[in-house]
Amino acid sequence: MKVNGIPTRTIRALDDGTAVEIIDQTLLPYRFEKRVLSDWRDCVEAIDVMRVRGAPLIGITGAWAVVLATKENPENAALIKAAEQIQNVRPTAVNLSWAVQRMLAALLPRDPSLRFPAAVKLAEAMTQEDVMLSRAIGDAGYGLIAELYRKLRRPVNILTHCNAGWLATVDYGTALAPIYFAFERGTPVHVWVDETRPRNQGLLTAWELGQQGVPHTIIADNAGGELMQKGAVDMVIVGADRITRRGDVANKIGTYLKALAAKDNEIPFYVAAPSSTIDWKLNDGKREIPIENRSASEVLSLRGIDRSGEVATVQLASPNESAANPAFDVTHNRFITGIITERGVFFAHQPCCSLPGSDCKCRT
Ligand code: MRU
Repeated sequence: MKVNGIPTRTIRALDDGTAVEIIDQTLLPYRFEKRVLSDWRDCVEAIDVMRVRGAPLIGITGAWAVVLATKENPENAALIKAAEQIQNVRPTAVNLSWAVQRMLAALLPRDPSLRFPAAVKLAEAMTQEDVMLSRAIGDAGYGLIAELYRKLRRPVNILTHCNAGWLATVDYGTALAPIYFAFERGTPVHVWVDETRPRNQGLLTAWELGQQGVPHTIIADNAGGELMQKGAVDMVIVGADRITRRGDVANKIGTYLKALAAKDNEIPFYVAAPSSTIDWKLNDGKREIPIENRSASEVLSLRGIDRSGEVATVQLASPNESAANPAFDVTHNRFITGIITERGVFFAHQPCCSLPGSDCKCRT
């Protein structure tokens, strides 16, 4: 997508894969700055403090971290030890361990002296593949928006939570990809953007929608229910960090409450994600998906920009306060109208049709 009119991706290899360049998302929407990571430990730090974030992008950054670990030491013991640390930085998005394991499976059978070039090639392929997956999700989801527009004959109001746009992937995004496709193809849309406390990823969503010229409005996290009751929301599209085989979805904290409100108001609630977000080993999301607990300081403080234009943090509560900060929640498949993947739109309460012999209905 474009930043100030220039096509930009969230991550790219530099110097034949001996380093990668990312956008430092901790500075957005206030400052747009790139950062070069040349050690796998820099990638681990970037994932941990959320300079890069969003399930697909975390996965791709993990793949490049394995490349940099291979550059440092391609021998089994060192590589496996680094991979272990990389895949455990954040627990909820399955894309991270998926990507690291995919890299290891391709590298370990090779002679250590041949691993680095092979690692660069595979990480590059995975980076390009992520773009194709987002585009395919955009295409599949676009059909749903176009169908609503044909019925309503006015701009389609879509509510989204967190940031599942191009900043959360390599390009285009998951939940926002159908919206970008609709906008590019002339289907009028307007997006309600949940601010998404405590990290305010909604501000990233607003920033990237603004860069592309998509009409949108930021709302406080608690406003969605009222807007739904007033008929101001036609559909909800969110992303996902992990989806179980029965279609339960872990996504940013607060997603579950939006799904409940959507159900009560008979508003379609869609989840958009690539198939690398599906964890086929898990079934019951509430019991089985690990939920990341982040620092209390994220709840007790707020990042913004001060009078001098510097990115700054202010304390919200008295220093004696404590806070709980679960970063994700799980929405049961019964609240989900459908899951938009690169293979089409699936109904969460039915087995996915990519399972051999399943009778899943696929709309697109
Ligand atoms: O904690 P984050 O910002 O990495 O979480 C990202 C999300 O939960 C997004 O909402 C998302 O849908 C997954 S990434 C497309």
